[in-house]
Amino acid sequence: MPTTLLFDLSNGIARVTINRPDKLNALNGTVIAELGDAVTRIETDAAIRGAILTGAGPKAFVAGADITELAAQTPMQGKARSTLGQEVFRRLERCGKPVIAAVNGFALGGGCELAMACHIRIAADHARFGQPEVKLGIGPGYGATARLPRLVGRGRALELLLTGGMIDAAEAFRIGLVNRVVPADKLLAEAETLLRTILENGPLAIRTCVELVDAGLETTMDLALALEADHFGLLSATEDMREGTSAFLEKRKPVFKGV
Ligand code: COA
Repeated sequence: MPTTLLFDLSNGIARVTINRPDKLNALNGTVIAELGDAVTRIETDAAIRGAILTGAGPKAFVAGADITELAAQTPMQGKARSTLGQEVFRRLERCGKPVIAAVNGFALGGGCELAMACHIRIAADHARFGQPEVKLGIGPGYGATARLPRLVGRGRALELLLTGGMIDAAEAFRIGLVNRVVPADKLLAEAETLLRTILENGPLAIRTCVELVDAGLETTMDLALALEADHFGLLSATEDMREGTSAFLEKRKPVFKGV
């Protein structure tokens, strides 16, 4: 049983809550290990069709890596910590099922990085974002230098990374760091409604979109387009594609089976 996470599965949606509210859900070694296990479950459990990631308590999503652990680390331990966290976040990003971050407060350092590894971010109106690592004399370790410029562009990413300053939810929305901002008491319901809207669509098509956007951002335009064409063809071999197109033509709702 995890000690720092809550894992709840209902109607195909896994809700993962990082649960160290007294430490603002800071990511220590146990949280990262348990998050790795949760990602494995999301990847492998066929009953899970999508996930929502959030933090316990009203104040923080995740206020970063646990600074008490960072303070004591040697260079090799630092490298290992970064590599392990990056691997967990990357698996989350590539789990093939849609994952929404419901950002319920501070998303700083590793918290902002964790939110960025999710496919979609919804923020409560009091959420605050930042990469304050430089204030501690260290840089990001869980992917911010790679994901932040891809999400918000090089100039805005560098401003956040170099100042270590925080931005509020409205500014995070303005620069494209979050998809939506909602009242705090509506956050989880909004995340679930959005995820359910996504899950009404063909699961193989959803997986393909996530994979193609991930791969397409890493390669040339021509290769990205070729990959898309291949998958457009591949999906034509699925029962879901027959069902989706037939349902449209027969003016009824499709029933997708993921095959
Ligand atoms: N690592 C370890 N502990 C953390 C933490 C972190 N990243 N962030 C918060 N905490 C702990 C605090 O030490 C405090 O513990 P204590 O009650 O045992 O003293 C508790 O969480 C509450 O935090 P506190 O600082 O008292 O809350 P606040 O409302 O005054 O400030 C923040 C909130 C988010 C501004 C502040 O906690 C902060 O700056 N945290 C660090 C953010 C950061 O640098 N993250 C990147 C790490 S690489």
